[in-house]
Amino acid sequence: MARVLVLSGPNLQLLGTREPAIYGRTTLAEIHAELAELAAARGAAVDCRQSNHEGELLDWIGAVRGVFDGMLLNAGAFTHTSYALRDAIQAVGLPCVEVHLSNPEAREPFRRRSRIAAACVAKVAGFGARSYALALEGLLDRLDARS
Ligand code: DQA
Repeated sequence: MARVLVLSGPNLQLLGTREPAIYGRTTLAEIHAELAELAAARGAAVDCRQSNHEGELLDWIGAVRGVFDGMLLNAGAFTHTSYALRDAIQAVGLPCVEVHLSNPEAREPFRRRSRIAAACVAKVAGFGARSYALALEGLLDRLDARS
């Protein structure tokens, strides 16, 4: 059974009320419930977590080996700043998909650069809450193809 760690970074606990014109009205809890259903339908499992703390995200990524087969990561604004997250993804060597609800490249200039993209196998952005589900489908396809 493929096991996927789904991580969301800073301010994503506010989904549902946070700038709905950009991020939509779906809450993170609703996204997590959809991912759990999708995973179960494919004989896989997800563990979904959110943190506003870079160090906690790093600790979680650092402990994935032997427990998970892949990761989805919406690093929020850390996407644009964190070399440490990039190093962590690279260090553990598990396939990681970068996820964004919005399309950061079509927004303010500071969002156009991702510090983590080079360590990820793929990116899904711009589909609102659906980005997570689409990313999970893609990652599970990739994991299934490997086993
Ligand atoms: C985001 C995009 C980031 O630029 C922003 O800082 C977020 C959310 C997204 O999902 O669209 O917090 O990662």
